[in-house]
Amino acid sequence: MTILITAGPTREAIDPVRYLTNRSSGKMGYAMAEAAAGMGHRVILISGPTQLDVPDGVDFVPTESAADMYRAVESWISKADVAIFAAAVADYRPAHVPEHKIKKTGDTMILELIRNPDILGSTRSIFKFNGVLVGFAAETQNVEDNARDKLERKGCDFVVANDVSRNDIGFDTNDNEVMLVYADKTEPLGKHSKHHIGHLILDKTIALASSNIAVTGQ
Ligand code: C5P
Repeated sequence: MTILITAGPTREAIDPVRYLTNRSSGKMGYAMAEAAAGMGHRVILISGPTQLDVPDGVDFVPTESAADMYRAVESWISKADVAIFAAAVADYRPAHVPEHKIKKTGDTMILELIRNPDILGSTRSIFKFNGVLVGFAAETQNVEDNARDKLERKGCDFVVANDVSRNDIGFDTNDNEVMLVYADKTEPLGKHSKHHIGHLILDKTIALASSNIAVTGQ
């Protein structure tokens, strides 16, 4: 099977030397990429900037901004049977990026932001992907409801819901505790290493993809 995974944060330029980003380390996505490659699948890992080593045996596509990641997914998605979107993509980017470093002038400064394209939200509707699609939801409140809402809006098979208000799990930690939110059920996975959770998520995803193949005969 060919598995496309997005991972890590994005970097949105403010000027040639500054950027906006978030606390994503990429560990969850890289753990899944490593596990999938270890199972013998072809893995396309599309990643924002991280401090991690690229797992052996994956096709690595480095990106920086959300717009870069959008273009990378757009060009690779047709090769994939399964797509898992674990990247923490910036919702907004600076509206204007000057060619030169911004100088300090007044006591305050206003940075205007505009919306980034929603990569996961474009995958069914614009990229016409019909394989198994898994999204992530990093939430600080109403975790399950927000995840189910996302599942419906973005056409996912399930959403991995993460409570990022806790500091022992979620962003930039080695452990995680997630719920798999489906249209008709929720499955809590318990607290484990990201490595173990990565395996569990992959097993569920591959099982869904195999049953799709059995039904459609493709
Ligand atoms: O709507 P929200 O940003 O919370 O959705 C999170 C999910 O959507 C994650 O799976 C993330 O990788 C994906 N996403 C994306 N492109 C965006 C924003 C989020 O692919 N611009």
